[in-house]
Order: sequence, then C-alpha cells, then structure tokens
Amino acid sequence: MDKLVINGPCRLQGEVSISGAKNAAVAIIPAAIMANNICIIENLPSIEDVTSLNTTITKMGAKTEFLDQHTLKIDSRGMENISATFEEVRKMRASYYLLGALLARYRRAEVAMPGGCDFGSRPIDLHLKGFRAMGAQVSVERDVIRVEAEKLQGASIYMDTVSVGATINIMLAAVLAEGKTVIENAAREPHIVDVANFLNIMGAKIKGAGTDVIRITGVEELHGAQYTIIPDQIEAGTYMIAAAITGGDILVKNIIPTHMDSLSAKLDEMGAGVEEFDDAIRVNATGRHLKAVSVQTMAYPGFPTDLQPQMTTLLTVAEGIGKVTENVWENRYQYTQMLKLMGAQIHVEGRVAITTGVPSLTAAHVDATDLRAGAAMVLAGLCANGETVIGEVKYIDRGYEEIEKKLTALGASIRRVHV
Ligand code: EPZ
Repeated sequence: MDKLVINGPCRLQGEVSISGAKNAAVAIIPAAIMANNICIIENLPSIEDVTSLNTTITKMGAKTEFLDQHTLKIDSRGMENISATFEEVRKMRASYYLLGALLARYRRAEVAMPGGCDFGSRPIDLHLKGFRAMGAQVSVERDVIRVEAEKLQGASIYMDTVSVGATINIMLAAVLAEGKTVIENAAREPHIVDVANFLNIMGAKIKGAGTDVIRITGVEELHGAQYTIIPDQIEAGTYMIAAAITGGDILVKNIIPTHMDSLSAKLDEMGAGVEEFDDAIRVNATGRHLKAVSVQTMAYPGFPTDLQPQMTTLLTVAEGIGKVTENVWENRYQYTQMLKLMGAQIHVEGRVAITTGVPSLTAAHVDATDLRAGAAMVLAGLCANGETVIGEVKYIDRGYEEIEKKLTALGASIRRVHV
C-alpha cells in the first residue's frame, strides 16, 4: 500500500505537461476491439485504469503491446471471448463500455457489474434502455449483465438524464447496428467527441457528437486506425487549481483551452490571473488573495463534477463564504470530512457545501476516499502547514499519471512511501 507524504506549504512554479484523457482512453480501448484490424492508440495516460482495461481485453483474447509508455497496439482479430467477468472488470466503472463494444461486434456480451468510485447510486439503466431500444435482450444475474441481440437495429433514443457513459455506450452499439440511430439529450463532453472521432476514422458514420443530438448511420464493419487521444481536461484543471491554491504560477501545457472555460472563468472571478495560449493556460496567483465564489456542477460545458472536490478545497482557503452545488452525483462530499481534519470549515447539506475561508490548512493524516477526492487531498496537503500523509493512493493512481513526479518538478515537496 502506498502513501503520499507532502511537506507544505509549497508555492508551485513552472510548467506541467498534461497526459491523455482518462475518460476518453477508457472508452477508446473498448472501441478498438470493434475493429477488424489493428488499432494504434497514442497519448494514452499511464494510469491504473488503462492498465486494468489492457489486462481485461488481453484476457478476452486480444493481443496488445505497448509500443512506448503511451502508445498501445491492439489486435483483436483473434478475440472470441465475449465474457468479461473477472476481477479487473469489477474494479472500474468504465468496464461498462465493453457491453456496447461487444454487443456491436458479436451481438452478445457478458460483463460484470461495473465498480469504480463510490459517491452514491451509479445506475446504468439508461445504457440498458438504449440497448433494449435497439432490439437487445438484457438481463442481470448475480452481478453479471448479459446483453444479446439477434438483430441490432438503429433506434431513436431520448436520454432522460444527460449521461456521458450512456451516450458513449449507445454510440458504440449503434455504429455497427442496422440503420439509423438518433441520440437526443446526449452528453457533450470533449471525450464523447474524441470517441466519435476515433470511431469515424475507423469507418463509422457519426454526426453531431459534441451537440445534444447525435446521429449515427450503422456500417457493416470498422477497420483498424491510428489515433491520438485528447488531453485530460480534469488533470489540467487539477494543476490549474494547484497554482491557485499554492499562490503559485503554472503554465499548464498540452491542453485544449476551450475545454477549461468553466474553470478559467471561476479562477478569474476569484482573482487569479488566467492567461490562455493556443495549447496552454497559465494560472498565476502570486501574491493574490483569492475571493470565494459560488460553483454549480453540471454536464459539459458546465463546471465538471470531477473538479468539484478540488475546487471546494480551494474555496476553503479563499476569502469569504463559498457555495458549491453538486448537481451530478448525489453523494460526492465524503472527502469534506478529511478536509475538516485539516482545519477547513465546511458545512454540507444535501447537494450544497458552504465553505468559510480560513487563512491556512493544517497538515494531517488523511485518506483518498476516491479518485478526485484524492486529488483534493493532494491540493490540501500542498497548501497546509506541516507534513500531510495521504493513504489509499491507489485511487489517485487510477487517474493521475506520475502525480508526485509532476508536482516535484513544480517545486512541491512530495514523496511516495510503500507501507
Ligand atoms: C462519467 O461517469 C465519468 N466516468 C465520471 O468521472 C464523471 O463524474 C461523470 O461521467 C460525469 O461527468 C467515466 O467517464 C469513466 P454519467 P458516468 O452517466 O458516465 C445519472 C472520474 O472521476 N445516470 O454521466 O458513469 C447518474 O446517476 C469519474 O473520472 C442515470 O441516472 O456518469 C448521474 O447522476 C468519476 N442512469 C448522472 O446521470 C444511467 O444509466 C451522470 O452520470 C447513467 C447515469
């Protein structure tokens, strides 16, 4: 078991290069098994979720090879196993994309109920409703989801709730279905566009990804392709907040600045300097006293729920009263208990968290309660006085590539210890 030890406070300064997007990678790897030939995926982040998915598809019969740390060659021509019920699958949420991918290619799939971070109920009814609308039979038995379709037929599907996972999963199934599929009230996250671009390069016919109506015309097969994944919006945002919370000055490189608009606007409103370049953003908080603001999480282009714990942590040391409303997940505030151990003043009621800024946090022994909560603990440790020890680092490793290396290069005193 690893822990991260941070000696704070530190002022971060310098440049950081952002890795490929985790939530695009975890959909693009399953999408690659739909091809009738070799796919090469570039700019994959070096994180545990990618390792788990690679192990999963290998166990299912795909041949994979890392050509370098960030490039994976996937050859699924010999893959015959449509059943993914082993341990790796249960560990991660994104394993649900295997359902759409296998259903599209083999017309049947058996996948263990997805796991992932725990922040309340995480239903997948919309995914299954979409598969059913396309003619699939769906059953759930002893934690295993089975989908099967003699004929997969395009359909008109309206999403009751905006869902990233359901939008991508239905898109996966629809590209190899017969006829046209229309997804209305679709999610618009950058990684949805990324997955659609990859599928289109493989020969799919998808229009409208990135808007709330996606139209797909089914094709008979997908061919191999080479594709570079977009930069990770949430990793980028975490480093932008790291600059703000440490009174630092960081150039966050290799990003798509428009993906960061909701966060850039909030940091600007708080009084940080935010400067945009073609593929970078500089956040400069040197000598500035940041003011608290109100933040509401929403589907893209709203403020991302996956930056909510990091933003709330920043608000605990900003001047005045901050208000956070979590509109996506019902229970994403467990980590606030940890922040309280560090002297933060936060009051949570239902979906709303109210922060009263304190001049500084105090180091403590805390745990990462999930992936983004873990990132929040790191940010708190960077600005707290003394030695903060963070347990359950495995959550952070699921989504952040070499976090201690990147932070050390920015001037943080952070080390990993094996316990
Ligand atoms: C994706 O989860 C991300 N995970 C999450 O990131 C992220 O928090 C979330 O999107 C929202 O942006 C991956 O991409 C692997 P949703 P997903 O379906 O797709 C409700 C991280 O930290 N809903 O968009 O599972 C659901 O309860 C992770 O990187 C249904 O009601 O989320 C939620 O309130 C954590 N029925 C809302 O929709 C369904 O069938 C949005 O969920 C599906 C979802």
